Amino acid sequence: MIIVGVLAALYIYLTWNFGYWSAQGIKGPTPFPIIGTFWPSLSKGMINGDTMLYERYKKDKVYGLFDGSTPNLAIADGDLLKTVLVKEFSSFQDRRKLPSVLGPTVSNMLTELTGEEWKKTRSIMSQTFTSGKIKRMIDSLNLYTKTLLEKMGERADADEMFEFKDLVGKCALDMVAAVGFGIDAQVQNNPESEFVPHTAEFFKFGVVRGTALLIAIVVPVLAPLIVKSGIGAIPDKTAAFFKNIMAQAMANRKADSNKHNDFLSLILKAQDAEDESKRLPDDVILANAIVFILAGYDTVSNTVSWAAYEMALHQDIQEKVYEEIMEVTGAEDDITYEMLPKMTYLESVIEESQRLFPGAPRIERQCTETITIEGITIPKDAIITIPVYGIHHDADIYPDPEKFIPERFSAEEKAKRNPYYFQPFGLGPRSCIAMRLAQTEVKLCLAKMIQKLRVLPCEKTEDPIPLVQTGQMHAKNGLYLKVQRR
Ligand code: HEM
Repeated sequence: MIIVGVLAALYIYLTWNFGYWSAQGIKGPTPFPIIGTFWPSLSKGMINGDTMLYERYKKDKVYGLFDGSTPNLAIADGDLLKTVLVKEFSSFQDRRKLPSVLGPTVSNMLTELTGEEWKKTRSIMSQTFTSGKIKRMIDSLNLYTKTLLEKMGERADADEMFEFKDLVGKCALDMVAAVGFGIDAQVQNNPESEFVPHTAEFFKFGVVRGTALLIAIVVPVLAPLIVKSGIGAIPDKTAAFFKNIMAQAMANRKADSNKHNDFLSLILKAQDAEDESKRLPDDVILANAIVFILAGYDTVSNTVSWAAYEMALHQDIQEKVYEEIMEVTGAEDDITYEMLPKMTYLESVIEESQRLFPGAPRIERQCTETITIEGITIPKDAIITIPVYGIHHDADIYPDPEKFIPERFSAEEKAKRNPYYFQPFGLGPRSCIAMRLAQTEVKLCLAKMIQKLRVLPCEKTEDPIPLVQTGQMHAKNGLYLKVQRR
């Protein structure tokens, strides 16, 4: 009898909220105790599961989900997306507050911070990414892309296929360490560099870490236990590696009498600021020094690699890009900051590949106060899902969505679409803080590459290419290509 009572109470506890969306006439998949509406993601993988639900419910503009028993509203309509991301931003400025399963360093990163702490940290960090500062970074960026070309040239001479993202990722790390911290990390030249394995550690979502995180999200009462056990945490030696590098960079900078204007000098200023409202605690500074490196590694190397992949499969498009680059650069090897905006076709190629392979296939926000928009009441703490991958592959928005057609991103075509249907960097005040730096790095890398090399498919190039089904846009079996000198 007691057991039946306990089970009944547990059932009620796990399902009490399940009528929340249907009571407002909002459709959605049937939720189940504990897993809520996670079944499509669990059975088909996150990207496939999200896209299936998006296709099923997109006509309704919104659909109701449950993460465990927490309500989650997915939005498929451009105008509503604008309301949440911009007009009513003050109620949706946070991302999902994840339990600290990955450890304290990750919890202090800008990507995870909430409320006033996020606002203060974002306002300090964003000063790094003004156009004037990015313009001054171009020499460093040119230097490291030159090394990338040397490495690719060696592969061309050996007629060797290679994992493209691995090579570009090393260049991205060199670039971000140089422009953020004035460190010459020598990742590309040093095969023993510890930067790569330690950085990659943050992106590993194997069974143990993935399950720990999932359980903490769907059954929040178990989160403290999981956090305490440390089973999903970033290993201490990885956290220590970055701590040492940053401590060294900070000590060098403090001893350096030259004036610097990069991310490191900004955060050092924030460490010592007399005005408390501008001061950041040491652990927040360290975490955000690390996020600067992490965020600049995976996303940039992914974006460059996916654009290269598409150009390898579409040689005619690659030739058109080559002609544009030659027209803009003439006989110059170095590419200046001013040359980049003139490469408009290359920009369309990058945007079309970001449509097909968006860095974040799903973007989320968390509601900080109960609010009613367009007749829908969204409760405090509910999650908002933006099914970016589904939107980017929607045939009603992008006809023939699996086809690579850069012309979709000409100025005229873009003007015909609701801008909220293209979100490779997110949109609104919580979008990617470094979008302009990222666009500069990606464009420069590709322009220099195509100026000197022809990118080609090889025996290991897959088309269509299977993706891993976590939140990252990674090729399941690697992204293999070949290059040839022009
Ligand atoms: C092509 C490269 C990149 C892509 C596609 C990309 C994409 C994104 C996306 C989708 C978000 C989430 C936006 C949202 O929630 O609305 C984001 C946030 C962020 N990105 Fe990027 N990113 C790139 C490069 C970079 C670089 C180079 C850095 C740093 C040097 C960076 C730093 C960040 C940070 C710190 C956030 C969190 C912002 C906040 O929470 O306020 N990203 N990025």
